[in-house]
Amino acid sequence: MTADHRRLRVALLGAGAVGSQVAALLLQHGDELADRAGATLDLVGIAVRDVDAPRDADLPRDLLTTDADELIVSADIVIELMGGIEPAKTQLLQAINAGADVVTANKALLATHGPELFEAADRVGAEVYYEAAAAGAIPIIRPLRDSLAGDRVRRIMGIVNGTTNYILDRMDLEGAEFADVLAEAQALGYAEADPTADVEGFDAAQKAAILASLAFHTAVPLDAVHREGITSIDKGMIETARRAGFVIKLLAVCERLTDPENGVESISVRVYPALVSREHPLASVHGANNAVFVEAEAAGDLMFYGAGAGGVQTASAVLGDVVSAARRHIAGGVGVGESTHANLPLAPVGHVVTRYQITLEVDDRPGVLAIVAGLLSDGGVSIATVEQTVHGGGVAHLVIGTHRAQEQNLSDTVDRLAASDVVERVVSVLRVEGD
Ligand code: NDP
Ligand code: HSE
Repeated sequence: MTADHRRLRVALLGAGAVGSQVAALLLQHGDELADRAGATLDLVGIAVRDVDAPRDADLPRDLLTTDADELIVSADIVIELMGGIEPAKTQLLQAINAGADVVTANKALLATHGPELFEAADRVGAEVYYEAAAAGAIPIIRPLRDSLAGDRVRRIMGIVNGTTNYILDRMDLEGAEFADVLAEAQALGYAEADPTADVEGFDAAQKAAILASLAFHTAVPLDAVHREGITSIDKGMIETARRAGFVIKLLAVCERLTDPENGVESISVRVYPALVSREHPLASVHGANNAVFVEAEAAGDLMFYGAGAGGVQTASAVLGDVVSAARRHIAGGVGVGESTHANLPLAPVGHVVTRYQITLEVDDRPGVLAIVAGLLSDGGVSIATVEQTVHGGGVAHLVIGTHRAQEQNLSDTVDRLAASDVVERVVSVLRVEGD
């Protein structure tokens, strides 16, 4: 240690995959962190449910306690790594009201009760830091909040869920089926025993709400995020995408929309499996990695890439926040709070304009293509490409690529296609993103 530092009391709530690594790194690198923070960070205790449970890191037994309240009242910085809504929310509010700065990786809590925490922090002059809450180890909260504060973000496309990227990547690389790869992801510990939050897009939607709020200076409630998961993606859809030059990725898309008639801006926040050109940088994000592709008006295209999860990786982002919180505690200044001054309206998914790929099974007889083309034309959807393959049995497989169309028109048109006598089955409808 190079200086005689002031001492700050740090309380940690949770010592699971992330918390145990945060505690271990705080204890191992205390001197270095003190020099960077300008304060000695005294880890005064770690609240857990069961002090005797096995831990991923070797932690001093006397730091573990089941009494979180006692730790919180005397802490300068409280790190919450328990997850879930309660007791995390109550304890963070308690910490803020007692004057502590707080650090959390809890995307579920921020996406649902973020405004309440930020308001409480504003009232008492405390700060909420949450770099690890979206895309794990990848620095993306500070870049959006600080580095891009002088720019206007037009669109964010994020691969923000490692489990689903791992599954889709394996399906793409090996032609594997969804259920088989999911079982493998669970065995490897990427997916939870109950993988619903990942595969149904809930986890990505929480991260999308957090990213969009920062990028567009607008509070984005979780229920305003359109969400679709990846459970309907099968090997056939992956193969069809490949033939057309695409890969399927679960994307969190946060976009500034401008009404062409009156220039009024709104934002769209959506999570769904989408087709991404194999030329796009996001197509090369493999395995359980995450990436956030940001399109800003002045900066142009930026991509932030790395580990979106993992105990020690996520601990890196948490500790960065702890150092920032400590510096602020000593020197003052603002942290990574909420900025909602723009307060843009949230557009329903029906307002989104993008390209689509529609895959149909149709009767293989004269005039069918003309009927399908007519229905698309009536719906204001313009065809860009058509691929037809015949598999016998009087059924043809049609893969139609559209020009840009409004989602509402497209969806009404697909309903009419589904109801048409010549269409046996709508196999899939996928949006094309990133072009
Ligand atoms: P874990 O489930 O591994 O650990 C949770 C910890 O919190 C455990 O130590 C548990 O105690 C403790 N805990 C839970 N409830 C209580 C309670 N009521 N009182 C006291 N302690 C409690 O979670 P993770 O470490 O995986 O995740 C922590 C946070 O980080 C979550 O918000 C998660 O979304 C986020 N995150 C996680 C990532 C990851 O890769 N794991 C990546 C990015 C963010 P005990 O051990 O005794 O059961
Ligand atoms: N379940 C998440 C994922 C963990 O797969 O990315 C990180 O939030």
